[in-house]
Amino acid sequence: MRVVVAGGAGFVGSHLCERLLADGAEVVCVDNFLTGRPGNVDPLRAHGAFRLLRRDVTGPLDIAGPVDAVLHLASPASPVDYRALPLETLAVGSVGTGRLLDLARRKGARFVLASTSEVYGDPQVHPQAEQYWGHVNPVGPRSMYDEAKRFAEALTTAHRATHGTRTGIVRIFNTYGPRMRADDGRAVPTFVTQALADRPVTVAGDGSQTRSLCHVDDLVDGLVRMMSREHPGPVNLGNPHELTMLELARLVVRLCGGTAPITFVPRPPDDPSVRRPDVTVARELLDWQPRVELADGLARTVAWFRERPVPPRPGPGYGAGLVPRQSAPVQLPAAGT
Ligand SMILES: NC(=O)c1ccc[n+]([C@@H]2O[C@H](COP(=O)([O-])OP(=O)(O)OC[C@H]3O[C@@H](n4cnc5c(N)ncnc54)[C@H](O)[C@@H]3O)[C@@H](O)[C@H]2O)c1
Repeated sequence: MRVVVAGGAGFVGSHLCERLLADGAEVVCVDNFLTGRPGNVDPLRAHGAFRLLRRDVTGPLDIAGPVDAVLHLASPASPVDYRALPLETLAVGSVGTGRLLDLARRKGARFVLASTSEVYGDPQVHPQAEQYWGHVNPVGPRSMYDEAKRFAEALTTAHRATHGTRTGIVRIFNTYGPRMRADDGRAVPTFVTQALADRPVTVAGDGSQTRSLCHVDDLVDGLVRMMSREHPGPVNLGNPHELTMLELARLVVRLCGGTAPITFVPRPPDDPSVRRPDVTVARELLDWQPRVELADGLARTVAWFRERPVPPRPGPGYGAGLVPRQSAPVQLPAAGT
């Protein structure tokens, strides 16, 4: 089995490459290191079945030889990253998705799109099942990501209908684990690096907003199962165990030694109030359910961060006070190409 993992040098992608190699697959990791790091896959480079290609998937893309599956994880994924890279995020969700769909079609490969619970926006239905269409602000501060993924889902669906491409869509809910970047602005790495450095742990708002956190090993297992089915999806992948951000901060502080104080910072606009997946479809279709308990997965994540130096500066707080940096111009291909 030969699998192309686009975005394979990122947080989730690197764990996925590792798992596929362990399962005996040949892996072609395609990444431009926009938000990922070559270091995430360095240990895999000695593996004879692993190949790393530095490519932007919004550009022309061909992979020599047979391909059995194309797994599309390429996209900035944290609020810090996609707000700093809005055009790149929209380009990879649209043009990049198109390129990877074309590759899958040419190769007769299974295609899996890593979509997101962000397609549900700030949901008015709870928990979120796949039939829910979402509540998204198309011009809001998260729109470059939410709408890129919604467009990617639409394009994937149209490709299947028009060309018979063997597509599948998974909607990933908040995932955590080793190899998250300490500065990516997501709650777990932010809280862990703050607490380990004994700095104030910055909870946005009053901390009553909820999330449901899935360990990366569970998510990767769901992705592999989706790859080996023919179902179009969408299928939610996430852990239904829901907790408030304040509860998460307290748990992280306890796991990190229990001395860091908790402080409150302004909550960013359009920050979803609740988030919990309904995973009935994944359970029935993929025979999948998350197995890693939050306290256990967090303890392992804390252990990983403990081994790495923590930058001495204060973290920005989860999604708070973010300043977009200037995006590089994005070249969109001319119509018809
Ligand atoms: N981690 C989560 O909680 C979560 C939740 C929902 C959805 N997802 C989705 O899962 C995927 C992986 O997320 P992650 O957390 O590992 O993020 P990440 O930023 O760590 O990984 C994304 C990878 O894509 C690469 N990339 C971005 N644009 C590219 C391009 N144009 N060409 C080639 N490579 C490109 C980046 O360099 C990076 O290695 C993303 O598509 C994200 O939207 C993740």
